[in-house]
Amino acid sequence: MDEYTPLEDFVGLELPVDQANTTGRDQLGEPEQIPELSDVNCPDDLRRQIETLMDRYPDKDSREGHRSASIPALWAVQRQYGWCTPEGIRQAAAVMKVTPAYLESVASFYDLLRLEPSGKSQVLVCTNISCWMRGGDELLDAFCEASGADRGEAGHGGSLSADGEVMVSGFECLGACDLAPMVSVNERYFGPLEPADAKTVIDQLRDGADVLPGKSLAKRPLTGGEDVPADDRTDALKGPNQ
Ligand code: FES
Repeated sequence: MDEYTPLEDFVGLELPVDQANTTGRDQLGEPEQIPELSDVNCPDDLRRQIETLMDRYPDKDSREGHRSASIPALWAVQRQYGWCTPEGIRQAAAVMKVTPAYLESVASFYDLLRLEPSGKSQVLVCTNISCWMRGGDELLDAFCEASGADRGEAGHGGSLSADGEVMVSGFECLGACDLAPMVSVNERYFGPLEPADAKTVIDQLRDGADVLPGKSLAKRPLTGGEDVPADDRTDALKGPNQ
């Protein structure tokens, strides 16, 4: 019978480092204390957004109720500043009456909440099974080459382009396997893509142009032809995945 191998033997293997970790991150103030709203200079629009989000949850006057809005509140912080900055986290914590440490711990759990600068644009390249079988890895290679992002980092948490403007990241299934191989660009879905599309997308992002209008999920012809009335989910901005 094989000898029992203690778990410690697996620790210390040369596993890739997730660049989204929080090592070396500078804390502001005392992360275990709830900051005063008057001390954090929270922009009015961000405060209102977070208060509106908190109102959507039951028990909004309890600590648990406040915590329920953590993920959308962190998303609001990320939209405000481009990533979950220490300042933004303190501002959200003051509005929600939770500790910055709690919000940071939540943010650190989700790949889409960034605790480091992530550029003006985010490109998520799906490399899960359906996209991988149709060239997802090659598509990620092409996005890295076109943007100057590091391929190794892009496959393990994300890498900024050489000019710091675009975050390129390999990603698990984005739930649009029928578009394989597909990418999400600034929360909009595009596919199926060819490796040659990568340079076009990067150039369009840098120029502020409309990204691949012909390959956008939102602008895809509807099944059944033009006579079929549009499903309003495809032409109304009801969610990010269009
Ligand atoms: S495998 Fe790529 S969207 Fe599902």
